Amino acid sequence: MKVETLPVTQGSYNLKDYEEAYKSFDWKDAEKVFSWAETGKVNMAYEAIDRHAESFRKNKVALFYRDEKRNEKYTFYEMKKWSNRAGNVLKEYGNVEKGDRVFIFMPRSPELYFSVLGAIKLGAIVGPLFEAFMEGAVKDRLEDSEAKVLITTPDLIGRVPVDELPHLKTIFIVGSDVEEAGPFVDFNKKMAEADNDLDIEWVDREDGMILHYTSGSTGRPKGVLHVHNAMIQHYHTARWVLDLQETDIYWCTADPGWVTGTSYGIFGPWLTGTSNVITGGRFKPENWYQTIEDFGITVWYSAPTAFRMLMSAGDELVKKFDLSSLRHILSVGEPLNPEVIRWGMKVFNKRIHDTWWMTETGAHVIANYPCMEIKPGSMGKPFPGIEVAIVDDQGNVLPPNRMGNLAIKKGWPSMMRQIWNNPEKYESYFLPGGWYISGDSAYMDEDGYIWFQGRVDDVIMTSGERVGPFEVESKLLEHPAIAEAGVIGKPDPVRGEIIKAFVALNEGYEPSEELKEEIRQFVKTGLAAHAAPREIEFKDKLPKTRSGKIMRRVLKAWELDLPAGDLSTMED
Ligand code: PRX
Repeated sequence: MKVETLPVTQGSYNLKDYEEAYKSFDWKDAEKVFSWAETGKVNMAYEAIDRHAESFRKNKVALFYRDEKRNEKYTFYEMKKWSNRAGNVLKEYGNVEKGDRVFIFMPRSPELYFSVLGAIKLGAIVGPLFEAFMEGAVKDRLEDSEAKVLITTPDLIGRVPVDELPHLKTIFIVGSDVEEAGPFVDFNKKMAEADNDLDIEWVDREDGMILHYTSGSTGRPKGVLHVHNAMIQHYHTARWVLDLQETDIYWCTADPGWVTGTSYGIFGPWLTGTSNVITGGRFKPENWYQTIEDFGITVWYSAPTAFRMLMSAGDELVKKFDLSSLRHILSVGEPLNPEVIRWGMKVFNKRIHDTWWMTETGAHVIANYPCMEIKPGSMGKPFPGIEVAIVDDQGNVLPPNRMGNLAIKKGWPSMMRQIWNNPEKYESYFLPGGWYISGDSAYMDEDGYIWFQGRVDDVIMTSGERVGPFEVESKLLEHPAIAEAGVIGKPDPVRGEIIKAFVALNEGYEPSEELKEEIRQFVKTGLAAHAAPREIEFKDKLPKTRSGKIMRRVLKAWELDLPAGDLSTMED
């Protein structure tokens, strides 16, 4: 089969550099860019902010922030001061110490970024929570992590069941006229009074830094722990994959509640001393193009669902804006359709570069580098210094063009170090021989390009967000009308997948459109809007194994009109 390729169009290094690096790349050498290589003093936040504030980048803008109400910018020098203040406030009023879990549950704002950096400067472990989470989702995460401190807003505090969280000692509220009583502290007031200088907690490279909760196909969401050492990979992927250079204006559209919004919304850009644009507010195609024009964005990192939504807003809209500043566009989170890449060529005259990685990998693992030919539909090639292979279920490496488990050899710098409170779960990711099993299936072609085929498990990727069916099913079962629930991802042209729920009702309840809507709202307000099923179908009974487990694979087969496969374990 002849595979289409798109030629190299831009990039600040060439294929030869890349090939050289590929042959000789050594993570030990890669460490030499950090100040700790000389001083021995390690802290991600120092490396991302203070080091630049003490250099020629002192007055360079680190953060451009814009939403409907605010339009602000902060230099590296100012970021140093504000993050120091945040550190002082957390220490003084929240008694935050090294290793404590500090959770941050709020919409994007400069204060969110000051808090993340301030907490990391104290050696704390930051847990960012997506603002759309509702009470059930918030409680699960705060409980499992035994978070000691929470930073949130007056709008969101109602979703935090404070009385049911004995470990949570202090809650900072970011707002105006905050009433200080019990565990509640007025964050802005304390920030205004705080000291600009902070004693940074120097940590071990293997100390915890960030805890992202993510979903699998079974069980509650799990806490994926990353350590300061991850900065090595954040830095070098920001250089090689994002191709960030001194004069770039970079925009990552992801929220820090998800790993892309921290690894490449905070760490990667700031470790490399790049000007970083952060926007708040809802997605609107006009606003997005306006952002690119107004800030003169040069490097733009987003996701297939967003590109597809922009695509459906039409090509005429694109022409109303001056997008000529763009030089490098990237995508992550779901399969990037060749059609979208072709559209990008047409309207931006630029290639969109796919990248593959996961919450657990902490940073890019596979990418289309600026200097290489793109094969639309392929995720690209492994990052230098990381061994990626397609393996069978026993860990045997498969030859080219054979589909199997997408696996990574243990030991890349930004690999997760723990599943919080769950060592068995952590171990279950690895096969003998040191292969980390991603849960994705893929094949590698004879040129080393990797082609995504699907998830091996039941994890749903909807609009680039990872949703575990178990979490949604558990919530559905809390609804009084529901006796049984099974949840699957249903293919969708814009969102990649949407969530579809099959439910069987308890006696006394009748299927109706009103009931569907009520169930949808129930999940929306109990868990999160993005986790609510867009489609609900009533069934008298759901397919189960003899041990009572809902067979999602059969539900999926029903939905897609496919053969259901082996039904020998199904109850009558
Ligand atoms: O299935 C893969 C999909 O997203 C999963 C990881 O989700 P999460 O941990 O939320 O991280 C998303 C962003 C880092 C993967 O197991 N995925 C990620 N990138 C791609 C992708 N699927 C296809 N193509 C990609 N480029």
